[in-house]
Amino acid sequence: MDISATQEEKIIFERIAVASKKLGVRSYLIGGFVRDKILGRGCKDIDVVCDSDGIELAHAAAAQFPNKPTVSFFKNFGTAHFRAGGFDIEFVGARKESYKHHSRKPEVEKGTLEDDQKRRDFTINAFAISLNEEDYGKLIDPFNGLTDLENKIIRTPLDPDITFSDDPLRMMRGIRFATQLDFNIHTETFDAIRRNAERIKIISAERIADELNKIILTPKPSVGFDLLYRAGLLNHFFPQMVDLAGVEIVEGKGHKDNFYHTLQVLDNVAARSTDLWLRWAAILHDIAKPPTKRFEVGHGWTFHGHDAVGEKMVPRIFKQLRLPLNEKMKYVAKLVGLHLRPISLSKEDITDSAMRRLLFDAGEDLEDLMVLCESDITSKNRQKVKRYLENFELVKERLKIVEEKDRIRNWQPPISGEEIMQIFNLPPSRNVGTLKTAVREAILDGIIPNDYDAAYAYLMQKAEELGIRKENA
Ligand code: CTP
Repeated sequence: MDISATQEEKIIFERIAVASKKLGVRSYLIGGFVRDKILGRGCKDIDVVCDSDGIELAHAAAAQFPNKPTVSFFKNFGTAHFRAGGFDIEFVGARKESYKHHSRKPEVEKGTLEDDQKRRDFTINAFAISLNEEDYGKLIDPFNGLTDLENKIIRTPLDPDITFSDDPLRMMRGIRFATQLDFNIHTETFDAIRRNAERIKIISAERIADELNKIILTPKPSVGFDLLYRAGLLNHFFPQMVDLAGVEIVEGKGHKDNFYHTLQVLDNVAARSTDLWLRWAAILHDIAKPPTKRFEVGHGWTFHGHDAVGEKMVPRIFKQLRLPLNEKMKYVAKLVGLHLRPISLSKEDITDSAMRRLLFDAGEDLEDLMVLCESDITSKNRQKVKRYLENFELVKERLKIVEEKDRIRNWQPPISGEEIMQIFNLPPSRNVGTLKTAVREAILDGIIPNDYDAAYAYLMQKAEELGIRKENA
């Protein structure tokens, strides 16, 4: 083989080759697996294309494995798949039609290997490796994918307008590969993306979200977002983010470009954490700046309340992008809502109670919130960044001290709502909530210490004020 394969992979290839020979068909490794092999990246998805029936070959190949793996197949699409040794192996007959796994159009015209290769998305995804006796292991690269790989170029094998109209998701795939692999998109290919951007509308939100999340999980996601924006794709599925772009100037005063600021924050978070949802919090932290933007004479630009408004925007955006509407969404919304809090604690005269409040509100997500806030410190002025980061370290220190003293995170107030109902013989009602909140707030504000007796005495005092008496019980 031209390309180094593990022992396990070699055995798999040889078994497929034996099955192909028995059936008298020609078969090839193809697509992303070959690309990743050349790049030296591990890949567990092996795609095999043959000049005959893919389903038949899959069954014959599976029969070569001692444990006889079960083959699942889709007759309409002519594809078949089985798992072996931790690999997902997929078989398909070469086709003239575009390579569409998920196409709803089942009829596909049979084609040669070259037909199949040229209907693939990018030259670097169109390699094939022969599994046939006469040229076993030979790399078949009709579109000079190897040169593009060396020069780090994403380019379509055919006229890009054809490749993208076959499957418009490929425009996002191209940007995703450029971001993942740190490649450049060839000018003609990029121009075609710009021309065809609107066609992304026919792609399902789920498939778009899938590609978007892959971009977000790269080491430098800003590259992908910038390309999506410049290509005119982003506005079709995530217009709120595009609204962040641009600078308005009034009375000679401008504000920063919040799109590029957001991308910087996203990269900063990406350098500190691989968590997809924390990265989403970075993307959305300033999402409400456009709707809250005001120019106040004498003050300049303000974005009052963009934290709270942003928190409320998160569910709608998650729904629109088909992201999960579960605890991950709540987590992102919470971080967006809290993202200004830690930095506001870096002023000098901050009380312990403000610290306690943040510990209580952030709870188990405090570390993530701190990562987000630290990442939010972006400025061209290095001195300024350094000073802010130093202040931020002091906030972290103080939070640690307050937490050690008061144990506020994951804390529950010493008197529960249940107990309040029992003490005063009250049904669940607004008064119970008022009393419970009063006790919690008094502890967080440092009015009373965090213990049962103090809480009980304070509860009695508040009940008295509300005209609720224990003896009425
Ligand atoms: N392909 C294509 N057009 C698409 C999707 C896939 O031409 N819209 C072809 C490419 O040749 C690709 C192969 O199908 O290499 C396998 O697709 P897939 O498994 O989705 O992607 P990979 O390229 O393997 O990359 P990744 O696993 O990172 O998604």
